[in-house]
Amino acid sequence: MSDQSIPGAFYTRWAGVYDRIASDLPGVARMRSAFLDLLSPSRGDVVVEMGCGTGANFPWLRDRVGPEGTVVGVDLSEGVLERARARVRRNRWENVHVVRGDATRPPFVGGPTAVPSGSLGLGAGEVDVVLATFVVGMLPDPGGAVQAWGQLAGDGGRLGLCNLARSTTPLGRVCNPAFAALVRASSPPGGKGRTRGAAQLLDERVLEGHRALHDVCDGVVSRRAFEGFVRMSAGTVRTER
Ligand SMILES: C[S@@+](CC[C@H](N)C(=O)[O-])C[C@H]1O[C@@H](n2cnc3c(N)ncnc32)[C@H](O)[C@@H]1O
Repeated sequence: MSDQSIPGAFYTRWAGVYDRIASDLPGVARMRSAFLDLLSPSRGDVVVEMGCGTGANFPWLRDRVGPEGTVVGVDLSEGVLERARARVRRNRWENVHVVRGDATRPPFVGGPTAVPSGSLGLGAGEVDVVLATFVVGMLPDPGGAVQAWGQLAGDGGRLGLCNLARSTTPLGRVCNPAFAALVRASSPPGGKGRTRGAAQLLDERVLEGHRALHDVCDGVVSRRAFEGFVRMSAGTVRTER
């Protein structure tokens, strides 16, 4: 089984539980809002969210881009996408769309690794903002994915990542073993994290993803929250260097 297919089935099975954690856990709303302050999408923007899950970011994204903007969520897992679609229907958001696809090969026409199926017809230059929250830590090649997202956002576009990883603050270090146990318990079965330390793999992937964001963006602003366990970075893509 590929690294991509494992999280697909895993998140489909746990979609209901995940939705409650991702949307209702105390402090999570504040964190999502703080991340979007950093990313600062504007009214009318076209925003693509990679690995959108159940659409927990959609209310904030829809609020920032307004009715004249567009939000597109991409995810591999049909189970979480069903919940994302239900959220869109419930809120009657006509400008929020959900596409099933591999975020590492963005399913848009004209993109560098475009695939035609499920395409919304968006290409490089037509997307203003690309974001991924709690996703790069699951990808086998986070750096490659972030570079592809930078190309999709195009020169002057905004790119942002928000992730969980082990903390480096004094208090955070005390809590790291409990965090690592949680990461291990919530890792998709059969993934590399089961044989290597799941938290170590998460740390490495998150670091690689955020480094890649620094490579493709100018003016990167980073923030840590929740005693250093949450890492957020956002910047403006520069294709010419
Ligand atoms: C931890 S959840 C985060 C969901 C959402 N971004 C949030 O903030 O609540 C990770 C999501 O990434 C999705 N995912 C993992 N690898 C993916 C890939 N290669 N392409 C698309 N989605 C992927 C999973 O299906 C899952 O819904």
